[in-house]
Amino acid sequence: MQYLTLDTETDFDGWRKAARSLVLHHVRPADVTWTVQGGEAELFAMPAPSPILEVNDGTFNVPAKFVEFAKAAILHRDGERFAILYRLLFRLKDNHDLIEVATDSDVAQITAMARAVHRDEHKMHAFVRFREIGREREAHYVAWFEPEHHIVELAAPFFAKRFADMPWSILTPDLCAHWDGHALTFTSGVSKGEAPGEDRLEETWRRYYASIFNPARLKVKAMQTEMPKKYWRNLPEASIIKPLIEDAERMTGAMIAKSATDPHKPQKRPEALMTRKTTAADDLETLREEAAHCRACPLYKDATQTVFGEGPKDATIMLVGEQPGDKEDLAGHPFVGPAGQMLDRALEEAGVDRKKVYVTNAVKHFKFVPRGKIRLHQKPATPEIKACRQWYEREVTAIQPDLIVAMGATAAQSVFGKITPIGKTRGRLIDLPDGRKALVTVHPSYLLRLPDPEAKVLEYQRFVEDLKIAAGQQKKSAHAA
Ligand code: URA
Repeated sequence: MQYLTLDTETDFDGWRKAARSLVLHHVRPADVTWTVQGGEAELFAMPAPSPILEVNDGTFNVPAKFVEFAKAAILHRDGERFAILYRLLFRLKDNHDLIEVATDSDVAQITAMARAVHRDEHKMHAFVRFREIGREREAHYVAWFEPEHHIVELAAPFFAKRFADMPWSILTPDLCAHWDGHALTFTSGVSKGEAPGEDRLEETWRRYYASIFNPARLKVKAMQTEMPKKYWRNLPEASIIKPLIEDAERMTGAMIAKSATDPHKPQKRPEALMTRKTTAADDLETLREEAAHCRACPLYKDATQTVFGEGPKDATIMLVGEQPGDKEDLAGHPFVGPAGQMLDRALEEAGVDRKKVYVTNAVKHFKFVPRGKIRLHQKPATPEIKACRQWYEREVTAIQPDLIVAMGATAAQSVFGKITPIGKTRGRLIDLPDGRKALVTVHPSYLLRLPDPEAKVLEYQRFVEDLKIAAGQQKKSAHAA
């Protein structure tokens, strides 16, 4: 009998090295026992581990699919995984096609384990909630999570990328991951008592969850599959899930009764919306309500909701983007996703107060194509921009801004009523026929997409410079008032 002890629960390299040597020495799977250092089996008086057998010659290949499955399956919590993987490897050596036999018991077990691990990884990405420890410059964000499998190292790079600018730690009973803004490190697991409790971010999460909760689409079973109950105890929004579900029936009833506010219900006279030209100032709330059930182009069909402009009614500056993105579509507010964060930063640097600016989009519905679980942004086409322009015109009439900033080509097309190249118009004040000024600049998403870091910095600076022109106008308007 060979006794193999791996360094850690996730020691894929150790397992691979040992398994390769055992296969080359024709050691039968039944003659191998696998344990992990410090693991339960080892503590229960296992004999001393066998040294890894020397491999002098011989080599063999395995299908790439096996390696891919094995890397994930080894993170499963089932103690038998090392043995099952070894048995499959032993059998695959002379029969590569075996990996394609989905009904084979070893293949089926490994496939199911790999899937369970990836599901758990996905759940961790979705359900980790950071809590703020300390304030401002000293702030550190800490989350508690209980993964089903050994996925912390697998899942952590996602958080490093998504929350690159904030120092965070994810504490779990197995392993803790830490990010200091530069590098990921791991330390041993801790108990839940060491994780922080409620903080001021909790309320933000609850409000966000309530805002994206759509009672008309409530399917409790599907919701519990996506967000299994075992995760609820660590989610700040969990406390409102029950009341929201209880409220849903009542709210859905009310929504049906008030069918004119349902964006997906047919309008009595949709053509009225498609042709209307307004000169009189509409009340912003009336506009928002009307736009909520706009059907002037087909984009309403797949989008979650109309994302209308937002900002004070007496704003002197109106910022126009292209269309809501994935985050905006869910939240119902413009520029709250990554492009919005970039915009906020640039506005602040330029000295423009976003709270005093009206922010909207040329197209008010999210246009996308589904790609698996992702919704890929699609540029709006001219008929969609034209169909949506009535809302932009009516927003201008309601707000009466002194300056309209068009960010990107779609916005420029809407503001000038025709295709307008950015390169020729960018960065200077242009007179509009109605006496207002327009300023053309790039869209913040363009900056996010630039692959070259140097170009990114330079283009961002140019963007800020453009916005400084808007800051100057904002000051002028304030003085004139
Ligand atoms: N991009 C836009 O043009 N608008 C948004 O609201 C978000 C991203």
